[in-house]
Amino acid sequence: MDFGLSGKRALVLGASRGLGAAIAAALAAEGVTVLGASRSGDYTVDLADKASVAALIDKVRTEGGVDILVNNSGGPKAGPAQGQATADWVAAFETMATSLYAVTDALLPQMIERKFGRIITVGSSGVVAPIAGLALSNAVRGAIAGWSKTLAAEVAKHGITVNMVLPGRIDTDRVRELDQGKAGRTGTSVEAVQEASRNDIPAGRYGRPEEFGAVVAFLASQQASYVTGSMLRVDGGMIKGL
Ligand SMILES: NC(=O)c1ccc[n+]([C@@H]2O[C@H](COP(=O)([O-])OP(=O)(O)OC[C@H]3O[C@@H](n4cnc5c(N)ncnc54)[C@H](OP(=O)(O)O)[C@@H]3O)[C@@H](O)[C@H]2O)c1
Repeated sequence: MDFGLSGKRALVLGASRGLGAAIAAALAAEGVTVLGASRSGDYTVDLADKASVAALIDKVRTEGGVDILVNNSGGPKAGPAQGQATADWVAAFETMATSLYAVTDALLPQMIERKFGRIITVGSSGVVAPIAGLALSNAVRGAIAGWSKTLAAEVAKHGITVNMVLPGRIDTDRVRELDQGKAGRTGTSVEAVQEASRNDIPAGRYGRPEEFGAVVAFLASQQASYVTGSMLRVDGGMIKGL
């Protein structure tokens, strides 16, 4: 199927590896010119640093903006809801939420002018089913979900869709690190942690980054023009609730 994206431009945040890299590859395969941003990318940005975010915004706006924005970031440290320092809550919120809101706000006017836009934010299964031991992630992503849904209603009349994609357990550096951390905390092997995880996923395996990238490419497509304000799970059936 031709997604009708040839000649479009996309900014993908957190594009140097994992889900962001797979999204960038999927969009590029559809003929999209992809600007990949991360601390080590061609478009350098540290989402924890307001000045760095402002510099990225200036650069992308000066180059004419983008048609597709993929809001993605590194995940926060693991830990319980109790006992987190206020500074850690604020840092997670600024790095994962307000920096993405700022980039989106700044790039929206050029999408509105073109009467086309796709804003796709990478969330987590934790938005629907909070994950034990990932309190910072659960809390901040819940806020992002509220923002994304509110924005979707504001800009739909301009031909701009705003959606979230929720990964379950996709095989990336981040998930490998979390599995290693859990193995260390529980005194088991990484293999045992991974096996327990696989047993909890109806598909019986972790997802592949390219399976995630393909779903994002679909949401960016012309065909997905009437899908907005949605959250799409890519989790092999892991989330148990409706
Ligand atoms: N993989 C999953 O199954 C899964 C499940 C639930 C939620 N998630 C969430 O989805 C997001 C992406 O996951 P992933 O598995 O692809 O993670 P990952 O493998 O850790 O990749 C994170 C990406 O974000 C970039 N990044 C990290 N900190 C950054 C910063 N301060 N400024 C700019 N870029 C930064 C990294 O590049 P540099 O290091 O080069 O900056 C990298 O490209 C994360 O928020 C993660 O928590 C993933």
